[in-house]
Amino acid sequence: MVQLTGTKKIRCAVFISGTGSNLKSLIQFTKKKKSPISIELIISNNRKAKGLKFGKIFKISNKVFNYKNKTIAEKKIISEIKKKKIKLICLAGFMKILSKDFIKNFKGKILNIHPSLLPKYKGLNTHQRVISNNEKYSGCTVHLVNSRLDSGKIILQKRVKISKFDTAKSLAKKILIQEHILYPKAIIKIFSL
Ligand code: GRF
Repeated sequence: MVQLTGTKKIRCAVFISGTGSNLKSLIQFTKKKKSPISIELIISNNRKAKGLKFGKIFKISNKVFNYKNKTIAEKKIISEIKKKKIKLICLAGFMKILSKDFIKNFKGKILNIHPSLLPKYKGLNTHQRVISNNEKYSGCTVHLVNSRLDSGKIILQKRVKISKFDTAKSLAKKILIQEHILYPKAIIKIFSL
């Protein structure tokens, strides 16, 4: 994985498409001494992503890329990432699937958070599927990104108990709280491996 050199923080980019609550928690984490990363760039495919406001609040540069043509969008993203000397990419609610070429460019350097106990419930609409299947537990997973959807090496998971009153919405809320704790923990873990 990425190597820590001296006391320098690893320059990281966070990719978002929506609310950005995980982005917010990661930014808060970077303010702590124990954080091995600094967030230097926020990338989105959606100029209306609410999370972009955190870039403004915390003075982190953000770039929005039009995904009408994915190949062009990814080329521009790669150039931006290289310009900013980014060494780690954290996907946090980024709703676009990265191409194989993109992933190859940053092999072992892309993390994602997924709201299920992978390998169960890959893909979208996770919470509804979990509830419909009467699962007793769900949770969240931080994993490395490879070319297969939600299938890279698992770094950390947190299990969350489902109550009989839970709906997809209430479960999403419960899990999100755990996501905010898990992502920073997983980042600490990969740099101490
Ligand atoms: C989270 O549940 C994350 O696991 C999933 O998308 C959601 C993003 O939420 N990949 P937020 O934008 O970080 O609030």
